[in-house]
Parts: sequence; C-alpha cells; structure tokens
Amino acid sequence: MTTATAIANPNLAFIKYWGNRDNTLRIPMNGSISMNLDGLYTRTTVRFQLGLTSDQLSINGYEVTGKGLDRISYILDIIRGMANLHDRAEVISENNFPSGAGIASSASAFAALALAGSKAAGLDLSEPALSHLARRGSGSASRSIPGGFVEWQAGTSDEDSFAFSIAEPGHWDLVDCIAIVSTAHKKTGSTEGHSLAPTSPLQAARVEDTVRRLDICRKAILERDFEAFASIVELDSDMMHSVMMTSTPALHYWKPASLEVMSCVRQWRAEGIQVCYTVDAGPNVHVLCPETEIRNVEKRLREVKGVSNVLVARAGGPAKVIEK
Ligand code: DP6
Repeated sequence: MTTATAIANPNLAFIKYWGNRDNTLRIPMNGSISMNLDGLYTRTTVRFQLGLTSDQLSINGYEVTGKGLDRISYILDIIRGMANLHDRAEVISENNFPSGAGIASSASAFAALALAGSKAAGLDLSEPALSHLARRGSGSASRSIPGGFVEWQAGTSDEDSFAFSIAEPGHWDLVDCIAIVSTAHKKTGSTEGHSLAPTSPLQAARVEDTVRRLDICRKAILERDFEAFASIVELDSDMMHSVMMTSTPALHYWKPASLEVMSCVRQWRAEGIQVCYTVDAGPNVHVLCPETEIRNVEKRLREVKGVSNVLVARAGGPAKVIEK
C-alpha cells in the first residue's frame, strides 16, 4: 500500500500535560488523562509517491510550507526509517472544526498522520506503537490514538511513554460544552509553553503532586463519581494555569470572560448542578457535565456575558483507518 486515509478526534485533558522531561522526544514531566471528543475530527490522507522531491502538505485546502511542513516531515522520516522507504509523500489534511475554537488540532492531526502515514508505508503498528509515533509530533496526540477515556503514562523513555484506554466512550455520558469567548489565535503555542514550564517555581510542586491527582481522576471516571471528578479537574486546570502565569515570561491565557464562565460554573455547582470547568492553553472554557444536565448548562452558558458560541462534544472512539 502507498496511500491511506485516517481520522482521529481531538481530546480534552482532565489532568493536563504541561512541561517535558525531553522536549525533542516529547517525554512529559507528568502523566495525563483525557477524553476524545466525538464529532470533531481531522481526516488525513498520506500518499507516498515515487519521483516527488519533497513532502507536500495541504491543510483545509491551503498549501503549508516552512515549520508546519517540517513538523510533518519529521514524523514521515520516522515512518520511512521504520519501513525502509525513501519516497516523499503528499499529505492532505482537513479539520471539521474551526481553528481558534479552543480545541487543539495538533492532537487529532498527528494521531491521524501517524495512522495514515504508517498504513500508507505498509506498516501495521500496534496501538502503543502508534501512540508513541503520534507523541513525537505533538504530545497530546498520543492520547488521540486509543478510544474513549485515555491515560498517557509519562514514562522516562521513548519506549514507555504512550497512552492507553482506561474506559470505553460509552462508559460515562460526560459532555464537553466548549464556551467560546475568543477565536483569536494565541500568541504562545503549547510547544513554546512547555519549554517555559521549568522557569516557574510552582512547576516542581505541580509535577510532584501529579500521581495523586491522576489516581483521584482515574478512580472518579471508573466510578462515575462526578463530585470527586469535578474538584480534581478544576484543581488540575488551576494548577497548570498557576504555573503558566508564574513562568518567565509569564503566560496569561485567561480573558475576563473566561473568569466569568469559571465563576458561573462554580456558582451553578453550589446550586446543585453537576458541572465543572477546565481550560487549556487559550481563553475558551471547557465546561463538563453529564448528559442529563446538558440542556440546562448549554442554555446558561449562552447567557453568560462574553460567550459568543457553545460547541458540544461527547466521548469519542479511537483513531481509525477509513476508505477515502
Ligand atoms: C494545555 O500536545 O499541544 O492542552 O507536544 O508541543 O504539541 P506539543 O503540545 P500539546 O500540549 C497540550 C497542552 C494542553 C494540556 C493537555 O492537552 O494535556
């Protein structure tokens, strides 16, 4: 086979990845837990072609060169090495969700690339091997290979740093309501942010406490215990943002409207609604609730000042090879 197409969902971390032990291999300082986001996906086709002089990349119909292409070629080079292949490839990738919506497209993009690229090269990689490969492109992409609720074990080397599923998508009817407060592109991307993490005096304490947070979060998911889940997810997000805000240079991703949403969510929970928040490296707020609360939560979110839209996603499956 010289061509293959794959799709992968982005994912939302409940316990966050922030900072690397090894920036090149993307070995994280701490393990993380996430949920794949169903209905949102990247679809990528990889075609190895004799006679191409360089790799080519198009994203949403636009040709990409420079650093964006280099990051893709880095993964294709690993695949070529594994398959003993020398041909360059044409990569065509499309996202069905808007960029700048608070959903990291690098996770779904590198998961789809790892799967489509390895298949197109004639390799039949195991799920852990695909997760390793996706991780080399973007750390969080390691978690978009397995399905449902996923844990990425930090590991200490390329071999033992990969993600696996801890529960199927149908295990818990959690819904992510993404409150959009800004669609502007962030100034500091995650890759640069990870490299700044060690400059915060709070990072060591955050990392040291991670096994405890992972244990509480994993147990809460397995037992579908929303109360325990809500408090650990909010704590973890706030801890990551404390590190971001205290690095040099400081990274402040929250906008006034992000804080407004977080404060409303805390208030609604105090009123007895099962709801909690988490925020990634951007201003938009991911608001989590069980299916039974979704109509109420979505309606309330749309009424919060500064919220321009709400996207809804449930737990999604693993990355898949598809017919084009
Ligand atoms: C805040 O995986 O996007 O979303 O490895 O440099 O591509 P790179 O970083 P990335 O970082 C994700 C950071 C986060 C937290 C998380 O998803 O765990």
